Amino acid sequence: MKLLFCSGKGGVGKSTMAFLFAVTLHRVGKAISIRDLDPQESLTAWIEDAPGVGTTPNADIELIDVPPRIDDTQVISAIRAADMIIVPTIPSRRRPRLLEPRPQ
Ligand SMILES: Nc1ncnc2c1ncn2[C@@H]1O[C@H](COP(=O)(O)OP(=O)(O)OP(=O)(O)O)[C@@H](O)[C@H]1O
Ligand SMILES: [Mg+2]
Repeated sequence: MKLLFCSGKGGVGKSTMAFLFAVTLHRVGKAISIRDLDPQESLTAWIEDAPGVGTTPNADIELIDVPPRIDDTQVISAIRAADMIIVPTIPSRRRPRLLEPRPQ
């Protein structure tokens, strides 16, 4: 299964969430592989630094991290190939107002 962490916006937590999925899946005994398409290679570096969290080539679960662009050819291919796309989003300041009760 290919899990893609993707957003056109930078700094929303794509790599962080991919890393947390990697650690969590590892802890429950799942073999994972990662595909780090971001030239910054944050995910690769974090996995290397995480004690005991290894990757298995061609594991059933592949975690894919991408740069914050959705017009990039590699990102488009990853979107097409993904089984699930997770879009980390930080709520804007206005959004919590939507949860307030409506005036009667
Ligand atoms: N849920 C969260 N709450 C608070 N801070 C967070 C959260 N998720 C990520 N961060 C912080 O936000 C920063 C950006 O996170 P991250 O590098 O994962 O984003 P990104 O979407 O991968 O960025 P880029 O687009 O540059 O690849 C980091 O400092 C990270 O620790
Ligand atoms: Mg990132």
